[in-house]
Amino acid sequence: MARYAHITGWGMAVPERVLTNHELAQMVDTSDEWIRSRTGIGERHIAAPNESTATLAVEAAIKALTVANLAPDQVELIIVASATPEHIFPATACLVQDRIGAVKAGAFDLSAACSGFVYGLNMAAQAIRTGSMNNALVIGAETLSKFTDWEDRNTCVLFGDGSGAFVLQGSDEPGGILSAVLRSDGSGGDLLIVPAGGSHLPASTETVKNRQHLIQMNGREVFRFATRVMAQATREAVQAAQLTMDDIKFVVPHQANKRIIENAANQLEISLERCLINLERYGNTSTASIPIAICEAAEDGRIQPGDRLVMVAFGAGLTWASLVAQWSGPFPTKHKVYPAWYRVWARVSSLMRRFRRHVEGLIWGTKEQG
Ligand code: ACO
Repeated sequence: MARYAHITGWGMAVPERVLTNHELAQMVDTSDEWIRSRTGIGERHIAAPNESTATLAVEAAIKALTVANLAPDQVELIIVASATPEHIFPATACLVQDRIGAVKAGAFDLSAACSGFVYGLNMAAQAIRTGSMNNALVIGAETLSKFTDWEDRNTCVLFGDGSGAFVLQGSDEPGGILSAVLRSDGSGGDLLIVPAGGSHLPASTETVKNRQHLIQMNGREVFRFATRVMAQATREAVQAAQLTMDDIKFVVPHQANKRIIENAANQLEISLERCLINLERYGNTSTASIPIAICEAAEDGRIQPGDRLVMVAFGAGLTWASLVAQWSGPFPTKHKVYPAWYRVWARVSSLMRRFRRHVEGLIWGTKEQG
């Protein structure tokens, strides 16, 4: 019997601190008028020093599990898509696994820049459709503010921090993720890049001095690329799902620039009302932008079970991706679970495992010396 991967839970988190265009105008040579008219962005959320990609990911994950009424120990796979992971390694997904108490989950990070959440949803859906697992958590989480060059007006006005998470669950009922299109073109890798900190250009005093650990972008080229692929990828995913644009309630585009979204809507010959747009309040949150837009629409009732959505993203790589999903909502369950409560036990058991490793280290260390 065919298996389907349904979206049964959703959650989002953003830092409390809001940075307005007017504040930015005090930091670099820009203005509220320029930023609004060229991008559509009015403000963005910025992580506090004690917030990171993992802390935002954990918050969104717990909310998504609460909506799905799924206990963390039932999760079998965690994918964190991020352009700003906690470390090069370990994976941010493993830190989330530990902090939410997902004791039976495999966990890895997915690096496809802003397209990462759509890539991740498709990967998790494929795993569920094969029957090899039933419950997965896909998270897009970012603290782009920590990689932003706050002296570069070309980029610092664009980005914001946040996270969004979906729970995917398997069922024999048709629905959920219906089709997906994943694409890449590495010849444009230099158009949007954090040049240093990897094996190509390891960290040195030179790289820090040259600001090579921060985002560098050729905005015009990225803009041209985005307007070329967004409508086309949307059409391809709709066609792959054997639907037409009339079957689609909302297109959920990556929230990078309102002009890119308007251009895509024009090419698709749909009204802007059929696009979910919230970048005015969040800026570009990369992998988190699509799940945040969907969370807001699901929470205020604009998205209802049965509605079909296209998610379409583009980003560094270059990468682009689209997918069609039929909205499901939570599966009926018998007992209420409280995923947030698992965090306390997760903390205790994490400390216990660290302590055990420490004690074992002492014992084995003594034996080796002996
Ligand atoms: N305030 C005032 N002026 C500015 C600012 C600013 N913040 N930024 C640039 N300008 C100036 C430029 O210096 C330029 O001046 P010049 O003509 O004297 O050289 C002028 O404004 C026009 O610059 P353009 O680059 O042509 O401006 P454009 O209309 O293309 O808008 C923007 C720039 C907003 C960056 C646009 O190109 C864009 O959105 N590109 C796509 C970026 C994107 O989506 N990136 C994210 C990809 S997703 C990911 O993976 C993270």
